[in-house]
Amino acid sequence: MVDQYCGGRPSPARRIHLSPPDVGPTEEALVVAAMRSGWVAPAGPDLDAFEREVADRVGCGYAVGVSSGTAALHLALVAVGARPGTVVVVPTLTFVATANAVTYTGAEPVFVDCDPATGNVDVDLLPDLLDDLRRRGRRVAAVMAVDINGVCADYARLLPVCAAAGVPVVEDSAQALGSTYEGRHAGSFGRVGIFSFNGNKIMTTSSGGMLVSEDSVLISRVRRLSTQAREPVAHYEHRDIGYNYRLSNVLAALGRAQLRRLDGMIERRRALRERYAKLFASVPGTRILGDGDAGSNCWLTSLVVEPATAGWRAADLGEHLAAHDIETRPMFKPMHRQPAHLGRRAVVTGAADRLFASGISLPSGSTLLGADADRVFQVVEEFLVRHR
Ligand SMILES: Cc1ncc(COP(=O)(O)O)c(C=O)c1O
Repeated sequence: MVDQYCGGRPSPARRIHLSPPDVGPTEEALVVAAMRSGWVAPAGPDLDAFEREVADRVGCGYAVGVSSGTAALHLALVAVGARPGTVVVVPTLTFVATANAVTYTGAEPVFVDCDPATGNVDVDLLPDLLDDLRRRGRRVAAVMAVDINGVCADYARLLPVCAAAGVPVVEDSAQALGSTYEGRHAGSFGRVGIFSFNGNKIMTTSSGGMLVSEDSVLISRVRRLSTQAREPVAHYEHRDIGYNYRLSNVLAALGRAQLRRLDGMIERRRALRERYAKLFASVPGTRILGDGDAGSNCWLTSLVVEPATAGWRAADLGEHLAAHDIETRPMFKPMHRQPAHLGRRAVVTGAADRLFASGISLPSGSTLLGADADRVFQVVEEFLVRHR
């Protein structure tokens, strides 16, 4: 029996990844039990239980397990009425799935910039944008919020702005399972929220996602659409165009094991975050993105570097770590700069561009412990000594 199934090779010189999966015997036991139960299908008791457990954890009435976070975003947008002729407001600093899901519906994404402190949507830009869209006669199907790196968007300010405009919020909490904001769980703020269980997320089903909502009618519709919109009759009858997006029962069993271990995995990521924060506290021209947010699940720790003050660039640190087989990643390239989304309307202040130019995500996984963690910090310290 091995203790870790990814990144578990014993060599001290192994490559250190940004955010690898953290799975072991608990996951193995539940997956094997699901297979032995005979429910090797996109339905079954583990899927039902996993949905219930995630809904309970998040404090939402209902949940639907699907094949990816992207599939969950697509269904969420369909459910709130995104379609050709409508507009969806999308934070420009995000992973491309947020914007792509909008285009799958035929709606038009309009990008908005971010708050430089957190990388989350800049709420100050929304009232004028929503007002302008209304005056032009555009129907806004949704405002999307992305909880970047596990830090929740500023919902205390965002929700009233969207409510006043009569526009639902779709919460892309792909990175934020287990995070809280003012005592409430990420995923529970919008009309509908989604999570990703991709291999690099805080917990994984290897690939998978979940959609959560308080709205039972919306959830029933999403569940039906996720299984090709099959009507409940003996033969195959379809009145709507559906999708093959359901999560499999075996992967749900993996998810149930991960959920049991979620708090421990968050604590380990938080310990790394605190260690990075301590190390960089005395380094001029650096800050941790979204630092000080006690509710964050600390999914990724990203460092923002002002080269004029620090005397070095984020990319220099990335190159130094890469030379020691340690993975890092630049911050997300904003959507309004992506060739696939060029030409879309974008309301920008330059904040996301600056974070892209100056941000670097550091190894943050919950498997990064002991000698491996020490190695990362030693290599970073070496770099800092050289650039003092
Ligand atoms: C913000 C964000 N939205 C959506 C997704 C898509 O999730 P998935 O990879 O499960 O499709 C991801 C991650 O991959 C993400 O980081």
